[in-house]
Amino acid sequence: MPATVVVGTQWGDEGKGKFTDLVAKEMQLVVRYQGGHNAGHTLVVDGETFALQLVPSGILYDHITPVIGNGVVVDPRVLIAEMDTLAAKGVDTSRLRVSGNAHLILPYHQEIDKVSERYLGRNKIGTTKRGIGPAYADKAARVGLRVQDLLDPKIFTEKLQVVLKEKNALLAKVYNQLPVDLDSILAEYLDVCRPRIEPLIADTVNLVHDALEAGQQVLLEGAQATFLDLDHGTYPYVTSSNPVAGGACVGAGIGPRHIDRVIGIAKAYVTRVGAGPFPTELFDEIGDHLVDVGHEYGTNTGRRRRTGWFDAVMLRHAVRLNSLSEVALTKLDVLDDLDTVKVCVAYELDGERFTHLPYHQSVVHKVTPIYEELPGWKTDLSGITERKDLPRQAEDYIAFLEAQLGVPIGLVGVGPGREQFLHFAA
Ligand code: IMP
Repeated sequence: MPATVVVGTQWGDEGKGKFTDLVAKEMQLVVRYQGGHNAGHTLVVDGETFALQLVPSGILYDHITPVIGNGVVVDPRVLIAEMDTLAAKGVDTSRLRVSGNAHLILPYHQEIDKVSERYLGRNKIGTTKRGIGPAYADKAARVGLRVQDLLDPKIFTEKLQVVLKEKNALLAKVYNQLPVDLDSILAEYLDVCRPRIEPLIADTVNLVHDALEAGQQVLLEGAQATFLDLDHGTYPYVTSSNPVAGGACVGAGIGPRHIDRVIGIAKAYVTRVGAGPFPTELFDEIGDHLVDVGHEYGTNTGRRRRTGWFDAVMLRHAVRLNSLSEVALTKLDVLDDLDTVKVCVAYELDGERFTHLPYHQSVVHKVTPIYEELPGWKTDLSGITERKDLPRQAEDYIAFLEAQLGVPIGLVGVGPGREQFLHFAA
């Protein structure tokens, strides 16, 4: 059976958790393929809110095996805390599996994430300070520790001793920080975490392939989003992994021929946390309104998100980068009170018009968005469960976006609850 990818198409926080949860219902395996606990997926089930960081969305369904793939970076302390929170809410986490090849986040990664941001000063990226970038950097530098190293205390200790020499020299001599203590890491990771993580460690690549061969449905769950992608995002204001659909192949260990559906999640407007270019950013009361109504504060860090109008230029690029087969539109209800809604259909700079994202970042920083303005619907959409009940203006907004993107919009979210969405397939 082929696999499905769910990917964010903007700068994250598109509400992927809700639609991933919906799509996951039909699946047997849900695999997270990149990122770490910089992600924050919120699900509202029967009025109860579940905020997931590392655990894949399918955890709330008994029939699903949630898998943390090799492409993820794992802080085992966070994973255990998250499993305990879920267990306290009555969720069975025993089906969770973690790739032995996934890399570990260690305390010095977090330290370096914090202090290196300080060094960047006004050029800082605005990371989540969870140690994500430094952990991926160590993976690429081939000095990372992996989840499988937890299984062998001798190997774990030896690797840590070697790497700590360099990390402590860096922390002390470059960043003027206290060194990180070997024994306390060993106590935390081997004595406390290891017994809890060991039963979950698995050969997840073969797990996924066995499932595919047995005709099961596999969902590959992306975190962050297309324009935070290390290769394709607004570098350096990006995360250190590949959220784009292609990253799913690497981060889960499957070839592209196994994927036949790629669902891009897009918010009905745009938000961004952290620094970096944002052509349609709003600095007026409409921007504040989107923050207030859309509760645009980070699930993880509590930071206020920057807000702006829907950007079809970005989205067209996301369609290409991910081979999107469809788009799921979220938070349409947040636009309910607006008299008019704008969509950016092109950018302009020095008389040149761009309908696709310019590759040169300086251009992206300077462009002026060209907007089409559409009438608002001034109707509370949150209770609407069928497409036929949507006001004409909301239908027109969605049709306009579809025409701009060239792919169908299959699902439309009209509120945070699990049931607050409309099937929109033609
Ligand atoms: P890092 O992933 O913590 O290294 O942060 C790099 C950039 O990605 C920063 O601008 C973060 O705000 C952003 N970022 C990381 N994870 C998320 C997410 O889940 N949603 C939105 N932005 C994120």
